[in-house]
Amino acid sequence: MGNSFLFLSSKVYNQLMEKPKILVTQSILTNGIEILENAGLEVEIWQQKGPIPRETLLKLAKDKVGIISMLSDKIDSQLLENSPELKVVTNYAVGFNNIDVASATKKKIAVGNTPGVLTDATADLAMALLLNLSRKITPAKENVINGEWINWEPLGFLGKSLKGKTLGVYGLGRIGHAFAKRCVDGFGMKLIHYSRTEKLIGKKVDLETLLKESDVISLHCPLTEETRERFDYEKLSKTKKDCIFINTARGEVVNEKDLERLVSEGHFFGVGLDVTAPEPISANSPLLKSDRVLVTPHIGSADFETRSAMSELVARNIISALNKSPLPGFVNPDVWN
Ligand code: DGY
Repeated sequence: MGNSFLFLSSKVYNQLMEKPKILVTQSILTNGIEILENAGLEVEIWQQKGPIPRETLLKLAKDKVGIISMLSDKIDSQLLENSPELKVVTNYAVGFNNIDVASATKKKIAVGNTPGVLTDATADLAMALLLNLSRKITPAKENVINGEWINWEPLGFLGKSLKGKTLGVYGLGRIGHAFAKRCVDGFGMKLIHYSRTEKLIGKKVDLETLLKESDVISLHCPLTEETRERFDYEKLSKTKKDCIFINTARGEVVNEKDLERLVSEGHFFGVGLDVTAPEPISANSPLLKSDRVLVTPHIGSADFETRSAMSELVARNIISALNKSPLPGFVNPDVWN
């Protein structure tokens, strides 16, 4: 009787000894991985360059209790159905439009994200795009590199001052607010915004007013069915012809073909895109041929401190979910109700 343990099949024995497994779909800063390992979890990281192939993701997710996903991974009902052990998925991003939250909730799988820690980094990037475009930094840099800097040009690279200009923020959440503060406090701009809730700064306006009155428009909304392609030809053509248009939110909020058409018609002083639809943007996109357009490869949260905080936050999301306590970044807090 005392030796009953000896009669356990090796399969059952292995199962008892196995640590719960977590999949990370791309290499991330390792501080979060250490937290997970110290908590007794086994972490498998997809370390190859580029997004994890769909079939590999489905296969590797099968025996995992948690997934740290990137915004390029489709976490849909097929994946959720195929992963019987799964208890938590946390995006390494604040946006979570790549995750089928309703299906996850139905299956009692907690969904996490990384709000707060990337607010300043993303607002900084939007500011960097704005300053680059308003002062023609990239064309000026190319002028120097191409050996075209002949003399001090009284009419060369004339930019657009921001002081006193009207900033229109579409979506005044955390990031929109942080960007607006930079523009208002740092550059003396006037703020109008289109947002769902009343905010104490600037003036809330309707979309028509935002489009018509803004010298700079910056998008900071999530991608939802309501915001998808919200900025199409009809809307974008209402903006001032010399408007600067910035998108650090999601590429799909803008109809990119319509944007291309307007740029080719000479509309916009500058267009700054950290996000495109699809990502990556095609190297043949006409947008890349315009010196009024600046595209960066979705680097909004890409500073060391921010990515390190994100790594820690996703680890805490996983551990909290496995303990059935509220995730620090909780997308579906009703999951266990
Ligand atoms: C996010 O986290 O959703 C941002 O797009 C990162 O830049």
